[in-house]
Amino acid sequence: MDKNLSIHATPGELFQSAAQRLVAIARDAIAEHGGFHLALAGGSTPKGLYRLLSEPGLAGQIPWERFHIYFGDERCVPPDHPDSNYRMARENLLDRVPIPAAQIHRMEGEREPAEAAARYAGVVADHLPADEGRQPRFDLILLGMGPDGHVASLFPDTPILEERNALAAAVYVEKFGAWRISLTLSVINSARHVLILVSGEGKAQTLARVLDGPIPPVPLPVQRVQPSGGPEWFIDRAAAQDLKGHPGA
Ligand code: 6PG
Repeated sequence: MDKNLSIHATPGELFQSAAQRLVAIARDAIAEHGGFHLALAGGSTPKGLYRLLSEPGLAGQIPWERFHIYFGDERCVPPDHPDSNYRMARENLLDRVPIPAAQIHRMEGEREPAEAAARYAGVVADHLPADEGRQPRFDLILLGMGPDGHVASLFPDTPILEERNALAAAVYVEKFGAWRISLTLSVINSARHVLILVSGEGKAQTLARVLDGPIPPVPLPVQRVQPSGGPEWFIDRAAAQDLKGHPGA
């Protein structure tokens, strides 16, 4: 199946391309319904994109006051903890651009996980425009991909993957011995757009399995990200090194 993907020589070029796509999606959303509801990815890959978006040259062209910021997932730590996705986004983007504080909706990693997830589901339901089926709908969700094929905190073989109703849920991740909060597949797959950013040779083997291999009996979490029109993949050459038959690979 043809995938909507672009391969870039360097991480910097990946971030430039993803930034342009994000701004275009934002402009369309703002033109259509007056705001841009964006869920940020955590981890390390998106840092370069966030810093690029906050550089004066680009930041000056973006209508930040129309942005509404959410998170795809969060570690169950306080917001100032080194592992906090909120802290990473704050340091690399949110403290550097004029988004109204009331329009930044962080997951409360400092709370008891199930309570924090339930509260966040309420935040999403209260603030996101809903589609005709009354499902809250993000304009854009940014995702990274782990070497095991997880996205957000949707890790392989975890019950959250089967959550059909809640918009967000808590999940215990065995390999980290830690709880996380994550948006669920239902709300991810209802998004108008999903960009998946994949950088580095450490992702190459999994990426080739995901994009070129057969769909396994139990798809990886990233293979279950199936918004209308499919996700848009932004990949650098290091991550693409095992791909076959894709332009730029
Ligand atoms: C997180 C992220 C997670 C991340 C992948 C890739 O909280 O860690 O949401 O899903 O996107 O693990 O992480 P890197 O970008 O650091 O490789």
